[in-house]
Amino acid sequence: MKNPNSIDDVQAMLSQTGYVCGRALATVVFLSLKLGRPLFLEGEAGVGKTEIAKALAASLGRRLIRLQCYEGLDASSAVYEWNFPAQMIAIRTAEADGNADRDLLQRELFGPDFLVERPLLQAMRPDENGPPVLLIDELDRTDEPFEAFLLEALSDFQVTIPELGTIAAPEPPIVVLTSNRTREVHDALKRRCLYHWVDYPDFAREVEILTAREPAIAAELSREIVAFVQALRTEDIFKKPGVAETIDWAKCLLALDVVDLSPEVISDTLGAILKYQDDIAKIQGSEAARLLEESKASLAPG
Ligand SMILES: Nc1ncnc2c1ncn2[C@@H]1O[C@H](COP(=O)(O)OP(=O)(O)OP(=O)(O)O)[C@@H](O)[C@H]1O
Ligand SMILES: [Mg+2]
Repeated sequence: MKNPNSIDDVQAMLSQTGYVCGRALATVVFLSLKLGRPLFLEGEAGVGKTEIAKALAASLGRRLIRLQCYEGLDASSAVYEWNFPAQMIAIRTAEADGNADRDLLQRELFGPDFLVERPLLQAMRPDENGPPVLLIDELDRTDEPFEAFLLEALSDFQVTIPELGTIAAPEPPIVVLTSNRTREVHDALKRRCLYHWVDYPDFAREVEILTAREPAIAAELSREIVAFVQALRTEDIFKKPGVAETIDWAKCLLALDVVDLSPEVISDTLGAILKYQDDIAKIQGSEAARLLEESKASLAPG
């Protein structure tokens, strides 16, 4: 599919994959595609940051390439590695055969057959469906040297492999970076990108998301679920539930054939929305009952 022509187009395109996208997010996505700038998304856990890259790739019909960041991630795991075991076998075989043309062997050993391409290099390869979507997920988990390296890779979309030369992307990939903001990402990197803070959706949008993801759920129950989760987010708890938790919880309630929220049902299933024992202990019982009453009152018609 070709790139969207307007912000409305972006919303329509993403909604086909079940991704519900507000105006502000649709605007940065549109601009990022139009201007060819990386999209940098920050936000709480489970609010749909990773999912947008998947939705973009699916709706544009592009390949999705994911670089999952972690502490200690270095350039070689992100760009390329030489297949060391295969190189060793090739050397042994050449030795055993007695045909040790050293120069030829060396050239072969550091040629395409022994190159293991990692996500950044994969993303620079041409693709018949158009440039891929490169998701650099949870960037805040890496360290600053890797960020500096990334900054360079993202600025010219080429990598140099000493033994092979420089490989440049014929067309730059669509880049989406995400961060949970466990630390600040460097300004220099942010400056290259279009930035958007992905917030918890408001009530109406969260109901829309839930309905898109779990069409089987009854309208009234989905409103109760969302109202309760939204009320829960206003509480002083350690880890607030994201949209992912809302959807998970709804799945659990569907599996239990729940038609209406009650304090008992909530207490029994809190583990689907709260993942810390302290939070569960705090909310279970009378607090859950109070929140439920409050959230149901907020739903009352009129
Ligand atoms: N706007 C949305 N439209 C549709 N589904 C959504 C939306 N936001 C979140 N979801 C659902 O929530 C789930 C979690 O989203 P996702 O994994 O993208 O969160 P995240 O922001 O990357 O979280 P984390 O920081 O924990 O990685 C997804 O599987 C998706 O189904
Ligand atoms: Mg994520």
